[in-house]
Amino acid sequence: MAQKITHPRGTADILPSEIPAWEYLETTARTLLKAYGYREMRTPVFEEVSLFKRSLGETTEVVNKQLLEVLSQRKDAGAADADAGLALRPEGTAPIVRAYNEHDMGRNDFLSKLFYIGPMFRGERPQKGRLRMFHQIGAEAIGRGANHPLLDAEMIALAVNMIKSFGIKDFKLKINSLGSAEDKENFARWLRQELKDTIGSLSDDVKAQYERNVFRLLDSKDQACRNVINSLQIGTQHLSEKGRVYFEKVKEGLDQLGVTYEVSSHLVRGLDYYTHTVFEISYAGLGAQDAIGAGGRYNGLIEQLGGGDRRFPETIGAIGFALGMERMLLALEAEGKKMAVASSIDVFVVAAKPEYETSAFVLVNELRAEGVSVDMDFGGGRAFKKQFEQADKLGAKQVWILGDEEMKNNTVSIKNMKTGEQTTEERTTRSITALVKAFNR
Ligand code: HAM
Repeated sequence: MAQKITHPRGTADILPSEIPAWEYLETTARTLLKAYGYREMRTPVFEEVSLFKRSLGETTEVVNKQLLEVLSQRKDAGAADADAGLALRPEGTAPIVRAYNEHDMGRNDFLSKLFYIGPMFRGERPQKGRLRMFHQIGAEAIGRGANHPLLDAEMIALAVNMIKSFGIKDFKLKINSLGSAEDKENFARWLRQELKDTIGSLSDDVKAQYERNVFRLLDSKDQACRNVINSLQIGTQHLSEKGRVYFEKVKEGLDQLGVTYEVSSHLVRGLDYYTHTVFEISYAGLGAQDAIGAGGRYNGLIEQLGGGDRRFPETIGAIGFALGMERMLLALEAEGKKMAVASSIDVFVVAAKPEYETSAFVLVNELRAEGVSVDMDFGGGRAFKKQFEQADKLGAKQVWILGDEEMKNNTVSIKNMKTGEQTTEERTTRSITALVKAFNR
């Protein structure tokens, strides 16, 4: 026998029995996003590598180690540099900003509230809750009207309310502020200075991060590094007065909405584009990969990717978040929440003999035209019992039977699967319509 091919590592098949849970997440999210004024947007699953290098940062893990390139060189344009290659998108923010700029969305919209639901790809080492192809529900608010601290509070509240509306209770929200781009630079300088004397004694990985992206050390998993970091007095000293006031207003907005949070000065996030507010939502029951959602402000990114408008000298603001759908499902499982079972069908048509199958086939399609969900056995005249078993499996509410008598008299016998009651009815178009009406009542 030929060898079976299995799914690639770090991916998963979503089976029919699992689909209701996915539909539940999507429908719940869409309803809530609409209430907050968000509109759906869909971007390609692959983009130019340079988009991710310029937005997420060349030195970040996502770009450095995890980009899944699909073409090492763009053949059509004859481009020679590696940056012209294409990569599967590791996240949704950079593509949304690329599209926002490309379609000049700021021209008409003072504030664009956009959301997306779809697969993302990162070449990570797979483990529980960490996949190479996973799904995110994300929201991004971009525009000249996206500079208000109350929008930060609204965005965080939206993320929290979405998680709550899924039925997840036991989660924790952490927030922090990195300040403006300038504040961030000051913070990096201060951190390097503070760590200067101890860095030599730490691991090579930690040393590399110190050079490449010193912020990553703040939430390092390396115990020796953590000890050093924990001994530092990190607060809001890196923030300018403006940055401090902004953060105070964000917190005030959250308090007004009754959102519970913890301010964590060690929260930095792994992508370069963040400025000011950053946040992360975790679910303790998930082990090492406990972040179920995260986001923050990325004010400079629109200009950095060639957008912005000279007519409006104010900078364009932007903030967003993304929730990991697989991790949402793991959290729901941990809370013991049962998802709705697969939907059942209304009617199953049984043909008692192979020669009645064509009549059954026609009847099935007549019923479908009336809007009934219906199926039949394509078994070439399997035993009556087998066909009834199949009807049961599909959760059919009624079985319509074509036996010898029914075929002779142009009738159909209808068995109610719940009560066991059975009646025989005329099999004409008019009577079928009437029966369906009665069924729907
Ligand atoms: P992120 O923190 O990289 O942020 O990802 C957001 C969420 O996606 C994580 O909290 C996690 O639930 C899920 N996730 C990430 N990587 C994986 C993986 N390998 N397997 C399973 N789930 C994963 C972003 O992607 C930003 N674009 C969020 C954002 C939007 N910031 C501003 N706007």
